[in-house]
Formats: sequence, structure tokens, C-alpha cells
Amino acid sequence: MVSNDKAGVRATAQEARKAAKSPQIGGRCAASPDKSISHRAIILAGMANGESKITNLLESDDVMATAGAVRALGASVEQMGAGHWRVTGQPCWQTPSAALDLGNSGTGVRLLMGAAARFDLSARFTGDASLSSRPMERALAPLRLMGVTAQTADGGRLPVTLTGSSRLKAITYTPPIASAQVKSAILLAGLGADGETMVIEPHATRAHTETLAPLFGADMDVQRDGAGQIARVRGRQALHAADVHIPGDPSSAAFPLAAGLVAGSGTVTVTGIITNPARFGLYEVLKAMGADMTITPAGHCAGEALADITVRPGTLKGVDVPPEIAPSMIDEYPVLSVIAAFAEGVTRMTGLAELRAKESDRLAASAALLTANGVRVELGEDSLTVYGMGPGGVPGGGAVKTLHDHRLAMSGLILGLGAKEVVTVDDVAMIATSYPGFFDDMAALGAQIT
Ligand code: S3P
Repeated sequence: MVSNDKAGVRATAQEARKAAKSPQIGGRCAASPDKSISHRAIILAGMANGESKITNLLESDDVMATAGAVRALGASVEQMGAGHWRVTGQPCWQTPSAALDLGNSGTGVRLLMGAAARFDLSARFTGDASLSSRPMERALAPLRLMGVTAQTADGGRLPVTLTGSSRLKAITYTPPIASAQVKSAILLAGLGADGETMVIEPHATRAHTETLAPLFGADMDVQRDGAGQIARVRGRQALHAADVHIPGDPSSAAFPLAAGLVAGSGTVTVTGIITNPARFGLYEVLKAMGADMTITPAGHCAGEALADITVRPGTLKGVDVPPEIAPSMIDEYPVLSVIAAFAEGVTRMTGLAELRAKESDRLAASAALLTANGVRVELGEDSLTVYGMGPGGVPGGGAVKTLHDHRLAMSGLILGLGAKEVVTVDDVAMIATSYPGFFDDMAALGAQIT
């Protein structure tokens, strides 16, 4: 990342931006720190005995909301320098004096409900308008089986008041939908249960909780089982402090790399990206589309294999994106839809019902983003078909409504960098929730965003 200019992004809150054709795009940047692992590192450190150091923490609004909540539950969470944080854990979390406001963050609220569940406390969880419209029952249902009591607003939404217990029961649970957030909530609660808790996933989701918790001394692991996996955690565990360096986020890296593919004339390299197969679906699809892409192994960090990825512009071909791959690229469909608009041929994406429960209805919003910019799409209940217009063929000129969704805002801007006419994005404020260095990185690569 060129710089971690959170204040810079905040200063532009609620402002529209315009993205213009930028054939000069090229260069190199470090991947923005991973959001999922940043949340998990703060939460695990916050309940561990002793002082943990976290470096390269993603200082985004979402992660800062989690840090604030962990502080309110009793831990000390302090910034020592840019990206460098010291967390002095509180092994017995306490009832916070005010509601825990998780802002826009589904990961923050669902993981924290699970983490708080194993303590004798009561906490009220709130969020912004987008988070307050999202389903919480999917995480609360298994926690109730373990012994938690929880009241929700109508439809299982926030605000949620949760009363935890130091006498939770261990469960074996198969989530009805593929969700790393639900799995992680159960595993974090299971750290305090009276026995072994298991989560059986028919389709494997990101296993960052399972990879990170053992660094804090937890007896937790995960094993592949065909297309799925089984995670388990032993109960009644105390954690110890750990030092964690946060690796690069494949979901954020997708934006500068997409700019290189659809707009640039040179190479774009993003360094230090997690290549965990449960996060790498987009890059597999890009390979199938014929992207000119080099993936160079770049060591390991926090238990994750990393790579530097270089792309060059070229002709991409439309592909079928099957439902099984969705859990490994669940956040990448808006940007893939944009890339598909610049491909030759048709891209059909199926099995996407979950996209309707994200920060916005991402399925409908991705379709609207493309339609507003002259790209033909077909929107189904759980599918999206994009009729590619070839390199340089996307008309653009449209206004993108971001609906308080950071990934739609960034996707709209990427479309503008390759389209014939300037694209306007109505509100870029939410980009600060996941990728606060976005504008700096894009400017350094030569993107015309004003
Ligand atoms: C996340 C899991 C995914 C993803 C989100 C981060 C995580 O959500 O969309 O951005 O860190 O566990 P679901 O668990 O709802 O699929």
C-alpha cells in the first residue's frame, strides 16, 4: 500500500467521484492488509493472556469498529504507530457500559457475538443502516443451541442483545449456508464450551479463524473433507498472547489488478497476496478467462502462503462461473462482473443467492452498475449473466449507485478507468471500511479518479 491514509479517505466522505479512461495505468503496490485476518487478530488478542503485537493491521473503519468493541469488552487496544498495535488481552470479557456499534461490519458483529458468547456478560450490538438490514439469526441460531440467550429486532436483525454464559454446551453444527462468519462465531464460542465443538461445512469457507487461533495457543484445527471441511475446537481454553503480522488481502488486491487488466497498457503488480484456495476463486476464474497473469510465490505470513501477482492487459474470454466456486470468491462478484464486461463473449455466474445478503443486494446492484454503463446483463434470482463488449468496448458514461457498499464503489470506479466515457460513482465514503489506501494506490498506478 502506498500509504495508509485513513484520514484522507474520511475527508472525502459522502463525495461523488469520477473515473476516466486511464490507459497509462501500470506499476506496483503492496496488497492492502487482509480485513478478515485483521478482525480475527484483534478479537483473539483481546481475549488472550498478555500483550500481543499486531503489525500491518488494516486500519479501516470496519476493523477500528471491532477494536473499539474489544476495548469496551475489557481489553486494552492501542495504536503504537502506523499499522502497529498493542493489545493487552482481558481473558474474562465484561459487560460493556454502552452498546457495541460495529458500523458497517458483518464480520465484526458476527464474530464478536460468538466471541462474547462464552462470558457471563450481556451486550447490545448495533450497526449502521446497511448492517441493520442484514440477517443475524444465522449466527445466533447455533449460539442459542450452545446456551446463549439473544433478543433481536424484527426479522432477526440488529440491534441484538446477547447474554453469554461461561457454561456453554459444545455442539456439532452444519451451517445451512456457507459462511465463514457463522463458522467463526461458533468456533470462538466453542473456545469456552464444555467439550469439543465441531462445524461441518459441505463447501469450505475461509479458515482464517482455524489458522490464527492456534498461534494464540488454541487447540483448534480444520481438515478437508472432499469439497468441504470439518473444523473443531476443544472447549474451556485459555489463550496466550501472540505477535501477528497481517498478510495482504486478495479481495482488495482484486481492484488494482482489475484496473491493470481492463484499463492499463503496462503491467500492474500487487505484492504479498494471500493465495489460500478458500480466498483465491477470482484468480482461478481470471486464469480460465485467459488473463495474462503471473503468480510468483512470496513466502508465508500468519500461516498463509503469499504471492506477488502481475497482470498485463489483453483479450479476456467470457466463462461459466459455477456455484461451487462461490465461497472462495464471495466478495469478488462485483469486480468480476466489471471485468466480464470487458471480455469477449458471455460470462454466466450462478449460485449467487448469498450476494443479496451482503452490504447491499450485490447481485441486483452489480447488474444495475453495468446496465447504467451500457453493458447488457441478465439478472436471475441467484445468477448474473454479463454480455462482454471486448477490450475498450464498454460505453460507460453512467452514474453508479453504491448503496453504502464499498465493493460496489470500487467496482464502479474500475469500470470507469476502462470505459469510453467518464463514470460517476455517487458516494465513495464506504471504501474506508475495507481499503483505506485505495485512492493512494490507484493514483500511484496512474488512475484518473477525480
Ligand atoms: C468474511 C466472510 C464472508 C465475507 C466477508 C468476510 C469473514 O462473509 O463476505 O467479507 O471474514 O469471515 P460470509 O461469512 O457472510 O459469507
